Amino acid sequence: MFRKQTLAGVHTRKREYMEKEEVEDDIVCLDESFFINDNYQLTTFTFGSQVLQLFCLQSASTDFDLTGQLVWPGAMLLNDYLSKNAEMLQGCSVIELGSGVGVTGILCSRFCPEVMLTDHNEEVLKILKKNIELHASSENSNCCAGLIAQKLEWGNSDQLNQILQRHPGGFDLLLHIREKGQCKFILAYVSRAKIMDAMVISEAIGHGLQINEVVGTRSVVGNLEGVIFEITL
Ligand SMILES: C[S@@+](CC[C@H](N)C(=O)[O-])C[C@H]1O[C@@H](n2cnc3c(N)ncnc32)[C@H](O)[C@@H]1O
Repeated sequence: MFRKQTLAGVHTRKREYMEKEEVEDDIVCLDESFFINDNYQLTTFTFGSQVLQLFCLQSASTDFDLTGQLVWPGAMLLNDYLSKNAEMLQGCSVIELGSGVGVTGILCSRFCPEVMLTDHNEEVLKILKKNIELHASSENSNCCAGLIAQKLEWGNSDQLNQILQRHPGGFDLLLHIREKGQCKFILAYVSRAKIMDAMVISEAIGHGLQINEVVGTRSVVGNLEGVIFEITL
């Protein structure tokens, strides 16, 4: 009798154990690397007389904040403007915020001595560094700049202090220009929602900034309307 009960108990525990194993087999843990597409394509961009090649995706996921893996219409607009007005970059030190794959900062490096490209996303920083290496080693590179990639989360004062320690003289252009002690911020604005158009201007004014549309820069980028603003900080 005792032996029979013991065997029954063993069988019950074995069944429970096997059921638990089956449940555990059904739980698959995927970390974010499973969702990351890093199948970057070497892509050619032309801005006026400037031809630039870099690795990027052709479309991106907004999951895990990976918007920086491709080149956005705003960058196309900004790069067209900068290539037509390259004299504004001459002799400047530039910092770019939210550089993504680096198409704007890398273009700037052809006209100015120092460009710091920043982003907060580790995955985006990886492809940004790869593109900087590609550009620096390119035989046809017109590069005259010290290109640097640096992690920067907007508003993170520790990271900002690290940047300022590395670059104590500050920057001339905060993709963005400093003229006679003033810093100028160049904003390539692409309209996606009408409600935002007026808000951008009123927010800038509300923060005591001077915001001016650059005449003649309104254009269609893809199927969206874009414009360049110069904002004086
Ligand atoms: C729309 S993408 C633009 C990328 C690139 N400038 C372009 O136009 O192709 C926005 C970029 O800003 C970065 N970003 C978004 N929020 C940020 C934040 N709070 N701090 C720093 N970078 C940020 C993203 O990682 C991404 O690379």
